[in-house]
Amino acid sequence: MVDDRLLIDLGDRIKSSERLVVFSGAGLSAQSGIPTFRGGCDHPLWSEYDPMKLASPEGFASDPDLVIKWYNWRRQQLAEAAPNAAHHALASLMNATLVTQNVDDLQERTGTHEDHVLHLHGSIAHDRCHDQCGWSERVDLAEPPGMRQCPACGAAARPGVVWFGESLPHETWEQAAHACAHADCMLVIGTSGVVQPAASLVELAGSAGAFVVNINPEPTPLDDLADASVHGGAAEVIPQFFAS
Ligand code: OAD
Repeated sequence: MVDDRLLIDLGDRIKSSERLVVFSGAGLSAQSGIPTFRGGCDHPLWSEYDPMKLASPEGFASDPDLVIKWYNWRRQQLAEAAPNAAHHALASLMNATLVTQNVDDLQERTGTHEDHVLHLHGSIAHDRCHDQCGWSERVDLAEPPGMRQCPACGAAARPGVVWFGESLPHETWEQAAHACAHADCMLVIGTSGVVQPAASLVELAGSAGAFVVNINPEPTPLDDLADASVHGGAAEVIPQFFAS
């Protein structure tokens, strides 16, 4: 049971922030039915699948068909999902910087402009050239393409996500790091905080003086970095911050 007074106080603090950063992970989309990777749902992805086989350049080289099929299964799952109350509440934050590790497009489906969401780990709603020739294309999530070549250069096409061992998109990372280094408040939602360099943004914001609020039903290492932690689900907690 989360204390109502605490939610009101934190909500006031968040709403009065002039340089708010929202940093989210898989827990933000969990109540939309999208599985997390490490916990907080019945079948976290990395408890059932090997990330090195499905989400690494080595895995793609060894069995590209398996990788594409796995991402297409996740795309079809996403096609049937809808934004939850937390995504809708965040959509009202016109001046905040939204930084996410999520590859889904649920935030954008609330009406948030795509330029307003910094996807550190890329987008599952896009394919791109594996050789990075610059080609990228939005795909139909309900009927995604199978194995194919990049139409621009003939290399393999692949999901537009960041895999283990790959660099984050440079400009997106720079924008996120800049916002965190100048933030006065950071709202952390639904991340285990164990994947780097993304998780380091919480420390960056905290050491820049931001007031850090962590939302997660379970304890995480980020609780130690946060000024306040609320243990609850994003779809219940986040709308309450913006209720009045
Ligand atoms: P994780 O699966 O590691 O963590 C999800 C967190 O969400 C856990 O701490 C859960 O307790 C929490 N959670 C579950 N349900 C929630 C709810 N309803 N409300 C709020 N929180 C909830 O996911 P990430 O931290 O996002 O990388 O993982 C980081 C990266 O690791 C992902 O972006 C992905 C993965 O490998 C790539 O795809 C490159």
